Amino acid sequence: MRKLADSQIAAFDTEYVDANRWKMVAACITKYFPEGDFSFVDLGGGNGLFTDRILREFPWSRGVLIDNSEYLIGLNRPVPRKVLICDSIENTARYVGSADIIFCNWLLHHLVSDTYGATRMNITNALRMAKSLLSERGYFSIFENMYDGLYFDNLPSRLIFGLTANRTMAPVLRRLGANTAGCGVCFLSREKWDETVKQAGLTIESYTDDDPWPIAFYRRALLHLGNIRVGHYWCGKGVRDLKASE
Ligand SMILES: C[S@@+](CC[C@H](N)C(=O)[O-])C[C@H]1O[C@@H](n2cnc3c(N)ncnc32)[C@H](O)[C@@H]1O
Repeated sequence: MRKLADSQIAAFDTEYVDANRWKMVAACITKYFPEGDFSFVDLGGGNGLFTDRILREFPWSRGVLIDNSEYLIGLNRPVPRKVLICDSIENTARYVGSADIIFCNWLLHHLVSDTYGATRMNITNALRMAKSLLSERGYFSIFENMYDGLYFDNLPSRLIFGLTANRTMAPVLRRLGANTAGCGVCFLSREKWDETVKQAGLTIESYTDDDPWPIAFYRRALLHLGNIRVGHYWCGKGVRDLKASE
């Protein structure tokens, strides 16, 4: 898998989960773990602000944060009940036996290889791997960007991947503000995220999204953008589906 340079990673030292998004995820945690006693893994947890918030709001929880950026891991505050691991997510099973909740906040679209097909496979495989680590009562929580096309649903995904993964065009695209230029990024449409999550054998227990983002006319036209927003999935291990099909 390709890895972003530290100069590109620095942009991720921020807090993506604002008050509204916190409400989405906290509602799921309190619904499924009302006693607040759970173990969790924060895949691609970066600077640790989200992990720290979970530990603070749920004082009986304990968490492992995994990220392959030494720079972002280094920004983490030492917090009791938090374990930090600097490694790529495909090695998660080396460190974690099982977890009650696996959080995956804006990580999947960064699991980029040289081709679009291989990248989509990385995303599905990461979800399958994470599913295998969920405990009996485990759930998977995902924040991702939904990039729906204007007429062709998943066209922005392919256009943005094609442009950002291209190394020759990287200097120009970086000047135009594409932080992932030269490495690549793979956002999907809502429909394709749904499909991918289900392909990995997870069931979608709930889905909530933010308001759509404003899009400049030239970006909408160039990238065939319809509606972009952040979505939150709360997924189970698929047990319900298995039972239903018996
Ligand atoms: C957009 S940031 C999101 C950070 C954090 N989850 C948050 O919401 O603030 C993406 C994160 O994924 C991490 N990342 C990218 N590829 C990774 C990989 N293969 N294994 C582990 N972490 C990865 C990056 O280092 C970065 O911290």
